Amino acid sequence: MANTILVGAQWGDEGKGKIIDYLTDEADIVVRSQGGNNAGHTIVHGSKKFVLHLIPSGILRRGKICVIGNGVVVDPLALVTEIRGLTGRGIKVGRNLLLSDCAHLVMPWHRALDEQRELRKGKNKIGTTKRGIGPAYGDKAARTGLRVGDLLDAESFTEKFRLRLRENNAVLRSLGAKPIPLQPFLRHYLAAAKALRPFIANTVVYLHEAMTRGRRLLFEGAQGTYLDLDLGTYPFVTSSNTTAGGACTGSGVPPHRMDTVIGVMKAYTTRVGEGPFPTEDDGVSDLLHGMGREFGATTGRARRCGWFDAVATRYAAMINGIDDLAITNLDGLDHVPVIKVCTAYRLDGKLLRHPPTEAAAWKRCRPVYTEFPGWMKPTSATRKFSRLPAAARRYVRALADLTGARLSIVSVGAGHDETIRL
Ligand code: IMO
Ligand code: MG
Repeated sequence: MANTILVGAQWGDEGKGKIIDYLTDEADIVVRSQGGNNAGHTIVHGSKKFVLHLIPSGILRRGKICVIGNGVVVDPLALVTEIRGLTGRGIKVGRNLLLSDCAHLVMPWHRALDEQRELRKGKNKIGTTKRGIGPAYGDKAARTGLRVGDLLDAESFTEKFRLRLRENNAVLRSLGAKPIPLQPFLRHYLAAAKALRPFIANTVVYLHEAMTRGRRLLFEGAQGTYLDLDLGTYPFVTSSNTTAGGACTGSGVPPHRMDTVIGVMKAYTTRVGEGPFPTEDDGVSDLLHGMGREFGATTGRARRCGWFDAVATRYAAMINGIDDLAITNLDGLDHVPVIKVCTAYRLDGKLLRHPPTEAAAWKRCRPVYTEFPGWMKPTSATRKFSRLPAAARRYVRALADLTGARLSIVSVGAGHDETIRL
């Protein structure tokens, strides 16, 4: 495997963590290039379950290097907690983790503003993870953000912290919210700065030197295509570019050094938070929640669930240039007698093969379904594609054909081994 970008082809939570962990065997360096600790990537190793938020999913493997790139927004307190959580469970986090000095910091006022803005939106809220992601990227674009590199000098960091705190407290007060006290926050941030200093590096230079030495990079996308700030269901999106291009801008690795794009998608669809979701279906939600599936790894919220939406995945294949597909959670449909797949939308008497670009129009789209017979058998023990029930094979082949990419991986369970390679 040469340099590979892995993206979510739906609304996030596609099972990217598991697939990254699986593919890490064939990579040397795993890179996160966007998002922050709004992500929740679950990896199951034997009886142990790990949920990673900021640290790339390669960290569980010995000898692999993990890079948090310049495009990520880093909550220093959350990162320190995550590092300690891993080391407490026997995972080594040391020279195998690099943190870009250009990555922006998530500050306490970002979290407070995220919460306040959501509150004030009332029923029009986005349903964010309240991790301060939007306000942090907002400050980055407004050129008023603090960066990881600022953590290197405690004195100037303190000065910047005081200044930004004053500015943002004025905003919080104007929203009727409580201002943030300087202490204990400054103290906590300075302690985190000290803890993180050994990891800080110019990751662009590191990645380029590594490529010169023939190292293979795996870019771990967070969120999914339709949460992309530019191309998703705006404004019901996150604040970064979750699509393939984000891997370049968020890491400093140019487009022509990328070799393949892998799209990860569930065999059905889920979404957490508000926004359009044409194939949403209460029956599918009840079924999956009843199986104990589809509760958020970051916020614990029950995910909205529905049928597979090939209109969405087809457009995702286009935007990301998806070469290969990893279809996850096939086992979630093991006991569904008739499975629906959306092949087109109906909107104002017209049949659409691609989603509309405006959320209000997208909300009005009605799915046109094709039905597939279910296989009514457990699939989790299957390791060979040819051993899957014929109806399951037909189903995943149809998903790949409708999406327009090569089927490469089918996941039939959360465990590392519960994977079929084609
Ligand atoms: P992973 O990497 C699913 C959603 C939130 C909300 C919207 C904006 O685990 O797939 P934000 O806090 O980013 O401002 O919230 O985006 N969201 C996710 N949904 N998976 C994620 O990450 C998500 N990260 C953010 O629920 O609708
Ligand atoms: Mg998740």
